[in-house]
Amino acid sequence: MVTVVTHPLVQHKLSVMRDVHTGVKEFRELASEVSLLLAYEAMRDLEVTQEEVTTPITTAEFPMLSGKKLALVAILRAGLIMTDSIVQLVPAAKVGHIGLYRDPETLGPVAYYNKLPTDIAERRVFLTDPMLATGGSASAAIASLKAAGATSIKLMCILAAPEGVAVIERDHPDVEIVVAALDSHLNDHGYIVPGLGDAGDRIYGTK
Ligand code: PRP
Ligand code: URA
Repeated sequence: MVTVVTHPLVQHKLSVMRDVHTGVKEFRELASEVSLLLAYEAMRDLEVTQEEVTTPITTAEFPMLSGKKLALVAILRAGLIMTDSIVQLVPAAKVGHIGLYRDPETLGPVAYYNKLPTDIAERRVFLTDPMLATGGSASAAIASLKAAGATSIKLMCILAAPEGVAVIERDHPDVEIVVAALDSHLNDHGYIVPGLGDAGDRIYGTK
């Protein structure tokens, strides 16, 4: 299942991110802000239970987060900016990292790092990567989360291509995708069209 977050704040910020004239500083700020807004939607179904709270006026029952603890997992490099901002909303979440890059020739994912919370199997996992292009990186990351025992995984992306969504739906039909926009297609180099370019390069200024 794919949820596109159509809120005007998300859409406006994403449009500015797409602009080739937007510099590194503003791109980073916008990516962090969009990530927070995506998390608001992705975490809509977190469990709550009623707990007693004493206000300055009286004592009553109010909703508090309960249920499975959370893990945020970034696909390096670009997913880092998303976990770094979302952890502000859920400071008790543990954070994992999966290092993958796309081979420029084959566009297939190359794994170089994996560090996950040891109790990942007991946590709800929110996997972050700004870009879902061919879907190879996200599919491989989800496979390594499942190999580590994770059973509840949501994928959060800023932009997705239909090709990437189809790969996740084929390989991991149990994983919900939350995204700010679903673009038209991939070009011959595997870039999302119209897209925003190379997310890692735009966040870290490496090109
Ligand atoms: C980008 C992006 C995703 C991947 C998406 O990373 O952040 O991880 O490409 O492409 P896919 O869906 O076709 O796999 P990249 O490989 O450029 O690595 P980087 O973050 O280290 O720059
Ligand atoms: N990775 C990116 O950073 N951008 C794309 O458009 C595709 C893959």
